[in-house]
Amino acid sequence: MSNVSASDVNNSEDWLLRVDDLSVHFHTPRGVVQAVDHVSFEVRPGETLALVGETGCGKSVTARSIMKLVPEPPGDYASGKVMLRNPATGAVIDMLAAPMDQVRATRGDRIAMIFQDPGKALNPSLTIGRQLAEVFGEHRAQMLLTNAGIDPAKAPLGSKSVASQRAGVIRRSFFNLTHRGQSRALQAAVDASVIDALSDTGIPNPRKVMSSYPHELSGGMKQRVMIAQALACDPDLLIADEPTTALDVTIQARILDLINDMQQRRGTAILYITHDLSLVRQFADRLAVMYAGRLVESGPALEVLRSPQHPYTQGLLAAIPRAGTPRGQLAAIAGSVPQLIDPPPQCHFSSRCSFSAQACTNHVPGLIPLPVAREVACLRFTDAVSLGVNQEQMPSHVDLIEVESAEAVSS
Ligand SMILES: Nc1ncnc2c1ncn2[C@@H]1O[C@H](COP(=O)(O)OP(=O)(O)OP(=O)(O)O)[C@@H](O)[C@H]1O
Ligand code: SF4
Ligand SMILES: [Mg+2]
Repeated sequence: MSNVSASDVNNSEDWLLRVDDLSVHFHTPRGVVQAVDHVSFEVRPGETLALVGETGCGKSVTARSIMKLVPEPPGDYASGKVMLRNPATGAVIDMLAAPMDQVRATRGDRIAMIFQDPGKALNPSLTIGRQLAEVFGEHRAQMLLTNAGIDPAKAPLGSKSVASQRAGVIRRSFFNLTHRGQSRALQAAVDASVIDALSDTGIPNPRKVMSSYPHELSGGMKQRVMIAQALACDPDLLIADEPTTALDVTIQARILDLINDMQQRRGTAILYITHDLSLVRQFADRLAVMYAGRLVESGPALEVLRSPQHPYTQGLLAAIPRAGTPRGQLAAIAGSVPQLIDPPPQCHFSSRCSFSAQACTNHVPGLIPLPVAREVACLRFTDAVSLGVNQEQMPSHVDLIEVESAEAVSS
């Protein structure tokens, strides 16, 4: 967890990523799936923002949109901007509007992503060693040359800017160094870096894995290869979409340490998508909660975990199993997530919310600010009296509700 204070973060101009009013739709034969619906948030340099929410609520589509990786069609960026600022120059690129060559140059270089589905992210026709070698050639050219005992100033295509312009060419050029001894030394340096990167993620027998193709590896192995690849990029922003779901707990701890190390070393910002709220408590500076395509609550992670304000967040925390909970008495949220095909203009949580009232089926609540840099999208926090919303247990804006089950998370 970085030491960025949450109150500094909210509404700050010091952002690295700003997602502004993002809506992503999928046009299907059954109708328009509104997967992401007017979502806005920021990630500041060096901080970790956790994004949580029930399955199918739009977390991965949001993450892929940041890289402009949603397939069009059937996808369609219906509204919004995804702005990435260069902390060194202040220059801003809108990933959704920029020319594709700029978007491609930004992906992998300034933003890297650990995909939820590693199978789709790796190139099936290249060995793992070759895929990782290209990443190292592209992002760590100077280091490789130095490790090979070659003066980077005298090496062809040794600069990162040239590498970026000619992605893929750099590796071949390295291997075509005129001096055969240099070429061999560089190959050895590349191999050593690839082996180190694979070993760091706990992959057994990395040398053998290097010569394997993705289909020859298990899901957990592929996930670790992808993690090694993402970390090798040294990005400004790492998007980690459930990065450790296919891994056992010991490897999971090792991967989280690796990500944490990179954050400390590089000041990398992390957008961390997870279902595991205990990891949120451990690693996140801020927490954003999604429900049915919309952000419903955000704020400093520990504050939100200690005193969730949105009924959905409260339900999510109450559903965490605790030691001593009798079998069959877990507090699940009744009902299920509404379908996102042409949803009616109402609070998407209204069919499952015990505070729901007439107004909740006539209005789509937007995020409104609360104290301590928090936001919540619930009509109980707006003009509840004139809207006729059920005010039972209505929280005051200052004296926020403490939910007992949240204490289990933060203890
Ligand atoms: N290519 C597609 N065509 C149609 N609908 C899609 C497509 N991709 C995603 N969706 C829909 O968009 C919605 C959001 O999906 P998304 O993958 O972002 O969910 P998620 O929050 O990441 O869920 P999980 O926690 O299970 O990973 C879902 O309803 C999904 O069915
Ligand atoms: S707006 Fe109404 S239905 Fe939606 S979460 Fe708030 S009280 Fe519940
Ligand atoms: Mg997902």
